Amino acid sequence: MRILVTGGAGYIGSHTCILLIEAGYDIVVFDNFCNASKESIARVEKIVGKTIPLIEGDIRYKEDLNRVFESYTIDAVIHFAGLKAVGESVEKPLEYYDNNIYGTLVLCQVMAAHGCKSIVFSSSATVYGDPHSTPIKEDFPLSATNPYGRSKLFIEEMLRDLYVSDPEWKIVLLRYFNPIGAHESGTIGEDPNGIPNNLLPFIAQTAIGTRACLSVFGDDYDTVDGTGVRDYIHVMDLADGHVKALDKMSTFTEIMTIKAFEAACGKKVPYSIAPRRAGDIATCFADPTYAKAVLGWEAQRGINEMCKDSWRWQSNNPQGYKS
Ligand code: NAD
Ligand code: WQD
Repeated sequence: MRILVTGGAGYIGSHTCILLIEAGYDIVVFDNFCNASKESIARVEKIVGKTIPLIEGDIRYKEDLNRVFESYTIDAVIHFAGLKAVGESVEKPLEYYDNNIYGTLVLCQVMAAHGCKSIVFSSSATVYGDPHSTPIKEDFPLSATNPYGRSKLFIEEMLRDLYVSDPEWKIVLLRYFNPIGAHESGTIGEDPNGIPNNLLPFIAQTAIGTRACLSVFGDDYDTVDGTGVRDYIHVMDLADGHVKALDKMSTFTEIMTIKAFEAACGKKVPYSIAPRRAGDIATCFADPTYAKAVLGWEAQRGINEMCKDSWRWQSNNPQGYKS
């Protein structure tokens, strides 16, 4: 499967690219580098030992996205591209609505035009506004307190409408809390432009001496030490969540399964279309929620690992157990 990673050169995107490649996905990175450096992808290439197709373009420009979809068969999109600074969004709301909402609208139009209807979207915990209680659950009421948050909320609504209009769409909305940390190699990480907005880069830049001192914004909240409580998550765990989301939404047709196997064995598998087999049904797949709740069990391996391991067995034992 080939995944288009919009905003793939950015902080969360670059970390996710590593795990996607390690899980056996092919990727294309698409970024306009308004908040990223090409160096991040060069370093990801070193970590994974592979060249990564990188297309410079803007999600708001159809012709840029068409270039990607005309050059590659894209099976799904992980959509990180967007602007994310809350304060800036208050000063420049139109830029946020243009980049985030209009950009996602154009992306979905181009996807639909090319028959690609699977998307994992970077939403944010900000869509819970100021929650009435914690911990926050997925079914809490949604609201926004600034243009950035509103852009995420509108995009979620747009994607929900899209699904209602055409249930062939597979859409995952991931609402991140506070990603921090970096890949264990120490070669890629968060590199914010200018003065960091977020706490962790500020602490790190103060520790390294780039900044003299950091301000703790308020110590009179009703918390254990009076300062704000947040839910920090290691960026690699968050990246892993994207691979799991892709695996989860990937119910596979026969032809997609053949394609995945071709990727695993590195050659074409000849096939032809034959009449329906008697008694077959169109669609069958499970909801594993009950097994997870009762047994604490969930499957770990995606289609690429399944095909890779099947092929290892088949190629090591061409005639099965017969010698
Ligand atoms: P980031 O700025 O490092 O990554 C975003 C990437 O998108 C950048 O590489 C940027 O150059 C690119 N981009 C922006 N606008 C674009 C456009 N119009 N066309 C093409 N590329 C464009 O940010 P990140 O922290 O990696 O966040 C990724 C996504 O996750 C964003 O959508 C953000 O809103 C969301 N998110 C981030 C956090 C966080 O705390 N980092 C929390 C919740 C949600
Ligand atoms: C964490 C805590 C600050 C900087 C933001 C977005 C949210 C999501 C994640 C994208 C707060 C305090 C901070 C500093 C400080 N992003 N702080 N000194 O505000 O939880 O969330 O990023 O979707 O939408 O709002 O994260 O890292 O900015 O702040 O004391 O120099 O650290 O007041 O309590 P936040 P943050």
